[in-house]
Amino acid sequence: MHCLHCYRYDVTAWTEERPIPRDVLLRQIKGKNALFCMLTDKIDKEVLDTAGKDLRVIATMSVGYDHIDVKETKSRGIRIGFTPEVLTDAVAELTIGLILATARRMFEAHDQIVEGKWSAWAPTWMCGVELKRSTVGIVGFGRIGQAVAQRLQGFGVERILYTSRSEKREAKGLGATLSSLENLVEVSDFIIVTCALMPETTGLFSDALFDKMKPTAIFINTSRGAVVDQLALQRALEKGKILAAGIDVMTPEPIPPTHPLLKLKNCGKYILLYIYIYILYTHHGHITCIGSLDISGLTRLSLFVAVSLPHIGSATTWARSQMSVMTARNIIAALDSQVMPAEVM
Ligand code: DGY
Repeated sequence: MHCLHCYRYDVTAWTEERPIPRDVLLRQIKGKNALFCMLTDKIDKEVLDTAGKDLRVIATMSVGYDHIDVKETKSRGIRIGFTPEVLTDAVAELTIGLILATARRMFEAHDQIVEGKWSAWAPTWMCGVELKRSTVGIVGFGRIGQAVAQRLQGFGVERILYTSRSEKREAKGLGATLSSLENLVEVSDFIIVTCALMPETTGLFSDALFDKMKPTAIFINTSRGAVVDQLALQRALEKGKILAAGIDVMTPEPIPPTHPLLKLKNCGKYILLYIYIYILYTHHGHITCIGSLDISGLTRLSLFVAVSLPHIGSATTWARSQMSVMTARNIIAALDSQVMPAEVM
């Protein structure tokens, strides 16, 4: 731990690039007025009890605050700060990147080169699916969901559906239509999860929901792993109930490298491609043109994989520095009994 005097405050800082061990947190929090924490720090009754009566604010360097027992914290009059807005663009960009990486099989294709499996350009090899003409369903249409919809405007998608408790004012401008969750999962080619983790969304994506999806659906999650019943996702991929998944969040984090979900990588195989080569003849019977390769059966019949990223949605230097500044400002404002830049209400 590093102790420093900074501005008007004595600060004790954990400066390692790994989460503070629980026992160190519990030792250090005693008697402190404020806590600057990460989404990896579980802030529960034990932490609050150990901190004692002087704790006035907990500020998390994240937009999600599902790791904080909000009810318990607030019942003690402790304010909670978080970091909305500043990471929206970074997460939305990563979401688009993950959609493309999954749909166009980028990691798998990269591995083909590295593993010496790139023998030649071939008509059906490494074919994926396009966003163009697709139906995209966004589950959770808050700041990040809307920023994803905005970025999809350039891709020529057929339609965007979203779930929400009520119609969102911003939706019209984004060409997005309110849908029930059931309808959204049934008709979407891409299902993108950007909702917050709350009791209502915990385990939301169950076998029952995956069963309703199209066998060609691509499932993307950049919110929280716990929104998904991960075994159900695994089953959906293994049984080919859906085509592929791209996940930036999972359970647990970090996921063990031996986890079966990761083993799905490269298990994709083509079952059958029906390829029509139209051969045009002149009236003398000579071939003049060979063309029109029809690979319409391809995407329906090929099995895809899970593409996994290690929770890097907000990992840009700009977003992370803004998040850290906002977290510090949240603390300073709370200690001065002022309006916080972003307080959990
Ligand atoms: C957050 O801030 O909650 C994000 O998940 C961080 O990447």
